[in-house]
Amino acid sequence: MRSRTSTPRTPIHPCTGCVRCGYEGPCVFKDGMDAIREAMLASDMVVFVTPLYYYTVSAQLKTVIDRFCPFNSSIQRKRMRSALLAEAWDSDDWTFESLETYYRTLMRYLNLTDMGTVLGAGCGTPAMARASRYPRLAYELGRGLR
Ligand SMILES: Cc1cc2nc3c(=O)[nH]c(=O)nc-3n(C[C@H](O)[C@H](O)[C@H](O)COP(=O)(O)O)c2cc1C
Repeated sequence: MRSRTSTPRTPIHPCTGCVRCGYEGPCVFKDGMDAIREAMLASDMVVFVTPLYYYTVSAQLKTVIDRFCPFNSSIQRKRMRSALLAEAWDSDDWTFESLETYYRTLMRYLNLTDMGTVLGAGCGTPAMARASRYPRLAYELGRGLR
């Protein structure tokens, strides 16, 4: 799902809440988010991919989501499709509960339409994930998109 060795070539600065963007405008930080913004606004779907960290998205993904702030209204207007791919060590029936709630709330706020979620329980290491049924489910999710 995500390479353990992948390091962002351009780091993404956390949003500081200065709101110089006015919630729709240029961000004061010029970094890897510029490419993500451009790619998102040229796309009709966004896929959130994350390991489960303390029952929610990783800090890395949350940093990116916080930086949606300067193009928040543009995302809302686009009415994009979305999907969620996540993996966790545990496999209790409540393992993904708070992540699912967060994702649903984000979808509601950003006017996203869910195309599917793959929640990989019992995927504590890359080898465990590879041996599970979840990579296939993620593949099928993508393949089924029109
Ligand atoms: C900081 C941290 C927090 C974690 N929190 C959880 C958790 O709340 N629940 C869980 O089941 N697994 C948790 N894990 C395990 C990871 O979700 C799991 O190992 C993940 O599948 C690893 O994905 P990766 O191989 O892509 O790094 C945590 C791991 C780390 C490093």
